[in-house]
Amino acid sequence: MSSPSMHQPFRGRTAVVTAAGAGIGRAIAVEWSARGGAVVAADVDIRAARATAAQIRDRGGECIAVAADVTDSSAVPDVVDAALADYDRVDALFNVAGASLPKRVDEMDDADWYRVIDLNLTSVYRASKHVIPQLRRVGGGSIVNISSTAGILAENRCSAYSAAKAGVLMLTRNMAMDYAPDNIRVNAVCPGSTMTPRIKDYLERVPGHGSLLDGLCPMNRYAEPEEIARPAVFLASDEASYITGATLAVDGGLTAGKHFAIFEDA
Ligand SMILES: NC(=O)c1ccc[n+]([C@@H]2O[C@H](COP(=O)([O-])OP(=O)(O)OC[C@H]3O[C@@H](n4cnc5c(N)ncnc54)[C@H](O)[C@@H]3O)[C@@H](O)[C@H]2O)c1
Repeated sequence: MSSPSMHQPFRGRTAVVTAAGAGIGRAIAVEWSARGGAVVAADVDIRAARATAAQIRDRGGECIAVAADVTDSSAVPDVVDAALADYDRVDALFNVAGASLPKRVDEMDDADWYRVIDLNLTSVYRASKHVIPQLRRVGGGSIVNISSTAGILAENRCSAYSAAKAGVLMLTRNMAMDYAPDNIRVNAVCPGSTMTPRIKDYLERVPGHGSLLDGLCPMNRYAEPEEIARPAVFLASDEASYITGATLAVDGGLTAGKHFAIFEDA
């Protein structure tokens, strides 16, 4: 027989989700809420964060929207304060905010480099630093960092982003080791190409974008944001109670291996 706790395992728990206003962040916020948890939806675009909160509340969930730029050190304590004011606790942190910059090393200036590292890597340090004491206070919790397949496989014209996302994977493992004694698990998800509204807009502006799908990954399609959100939320759940320091590629097989056309006819 099923009990309410089976369907709503996160009831009484609160998650902070950065970049919760769209794409993968919004999907994670909605997925966490669907399992009964409260959400603090943080985004640099407060209107987008409010739209996520409205979507969750319309479905009977609990969510507050907070304006926060993850590159601003003073913003993160405000997010934690908002979480404590409304829900009195934080149990999980999803570090989602990030964006790439399509430039080679010689095409970047120092400001480009530091901006990409700050947004994708330093932001994970910054948010985790302020949330960890709260996780400790409630006896433990979970951090899930959204890296990228670009953190595993190098990509063309992607140097700063790839370096930052690879850094996220190592930071994940370091934090997993450091905070295991506090019952805090830290894991990373590496999404492959995901059909977020931003990617959709971009593809619509690229002539002949359909051909870009060829060779995208063995499954030959984009992920839906929900297909990234579900494994991310799983890692933060009790079902993943012995998983820490892990990198979970959710990429349609992209990083599984290299396809050699020559073997097809061998
Ligand atoms: N979409 C993909 O194909 C893909 C693939 C691999 C990894 N990722 C990673 O997943 C994460 C989410 O990507 P997405 O495509 O869903 O994002 P997105 O570009 O759709 O943006 C989602 C939200 O991030 C917010 N945001 C942007 N800068 C911010 C900042 N400085 N502080 C707080 N919020 C900010 C935006 O306002 C927006 O609401 C990123 O870390 C990205 O690198 C995405």
